[in-house]
Amino acid sequence: MFVEKLARLFNVFKKDQKPAYITVPISHVNSAAQVQALPPMRMPRHVAIIMDGNGRWARRKELPRSAGHAAGVEALRDIIRASDDWGIEYLTIYAFSTENWARSHEEVEALMALLLKYFASEIDELDEKNVRITIIGNIGDLPEAQREAVRNAMARTKENTGLKLNIALSYGGRAELVRAAKALAQKAADGTLAPEDIDAQALEAELYTAGQPDVDLLIRTSGEMRLSNFLPWQTVYAELVFDRTLWPDFDRAAYMRALREYANRDRRYGRRDGETGEANA
Ligand code: FPP
Repeated sequence: MFVEKLARLFNVFKKDQKPAYITVPISHVNSAAQVQALPPMRMPRHVAIIMDGNGRWARRKELPRSAGHAAGVEALRDIIRASDDWGIEYLTIYAFSTENWARSHEEVEALMALLLKYFASEIDELDEKNVRITIIGNIGDLPEAQREAVRNAMARTKENTGLKLNIALSYGGRAELVRAAKALAQKAADGTLAPEDIDAQALEAELYTAGQPDVDLLIRTSGEMRLSNFLPWQTVYAELVFDRTLWPDFDRAAYMRALREYANRDRRYGRRDGETGEANA
């Protein structure tokens, strides 16, 4: 295990050689009691997060909603670092949905400004940590400066082999599926794909997340229990964890709670109890 951890640190493991169990480094656990209770646990390869509750967090503090989003960025920073520290391979975050364009002009502007600031301040560290950034969603909807910032971030980190960070921006799950259906229809019309050859694999290849594993664990904060048009294809067998914490207060301890919950789930993919032979397959 120690050798594996060391190898992971230097990134010499190929994807399929990664150990199924990961020991969380003691330095990232918050209390001595937690350290004692932490056995090696099964970790999700792909975590998706709906970062909800920024507005309520701000209201409780009698601050403008934009202050809630700014605090949300701080929380995000730490959760990305924790994901990297803990060996999560894929992290997908819902930063801005297609529906979010309908918010007030002031709030959309504040979120767009935060986005620009985020890429300017974080890109060096993310690149240094070997994080690969992919934007999922319609980049063309973004204002020019933001479009350029996200394109630069993707181009700059495209060879990185560490944490794969998908940032959903102007993303809608149904829109993603419609886009994939159009691409397949176009191939059929061009004669490069026969309609009878259209299967789940062909559709998956047209998604923003093409080639990535399905989501194993989806976390939504703030107590809301909805999926809100987030990754409908990729989450069909995901384990769902709804945490009451408002996103700006979501920290490593809360994240670890969700990971523990995941580790204790019995994933059966529609099979009967006990057929997988594994506690969490
Ligand atoms: C939902 O809270 C959150 C959002 C719509 C935006 C999430 C964005 C961030 C955390 C920061 C921006 C991200 C980057 C990458 C810069 P809400 O406003 O719906 O909260 P409420 O339900 O309490 O009103």
